Amino acid sequence: MRLIKSSSLLCALILSVFSSLPSYANPTTAIQVPSAWTNQSGSTLYISTIDSNGQIGGSYINRAAGYGCQNIAYPVTGWAYGSAITFNTLWKSVAESCNSITAWAGFLYKGQISTLWNLTINGSSSTSQIIQGSDIFQQVQTLVNKSLISKK
Ligand code: BTN
Repeated sequence: MRLIKSSSLLCALILSVFSSLPSYANPTTAIQVPSAWTNQSGSTLYISTIDSNGQIGGSYINRAAGYGCQNIAYPVTGWAYGSAITFNTLWKSVAESCNSITAWAGFLYKGQISTLWNLTINGSSSTSQIIQGSDIFQQVQTLVNKSLISKK
């Protein structure tokens, strides 16, 4: 009886600690790995790895109208630190190269990644040539196929 009481007290204590933490410190708000995120232009960010230092590995498929290098997966590197996130894509591949790099910086809040980005074209000579914008990414929910047949 006493054991049940003290374990439920411990559960209540853990719950109250997590609910009082700021959102960046709450493990339930961390970016899932692997995960896929789509923005308002239909582009997709795939996060395949986040190592113990917060280094991100993944890929990006651009589908934004008016830009080159569409419908091809380009490697993504970046950093996650609590709710803060940055990632980059070099738009270079055997299929198509766009002579440019995009760097996104933003944060995870309430299940979406809000970012500002800079698109720099190789050969630029003035910061006025840097194209800037914002992207908001929502997580794509993926179905996990679990076999109903038991493995022996
Ligand atoms: C280029 O045209 O030089 C390369 C493709 C750039 C696509 C940009 S990156 C920022 C914005 N968000 C997207 O999903 N696509 C555009």
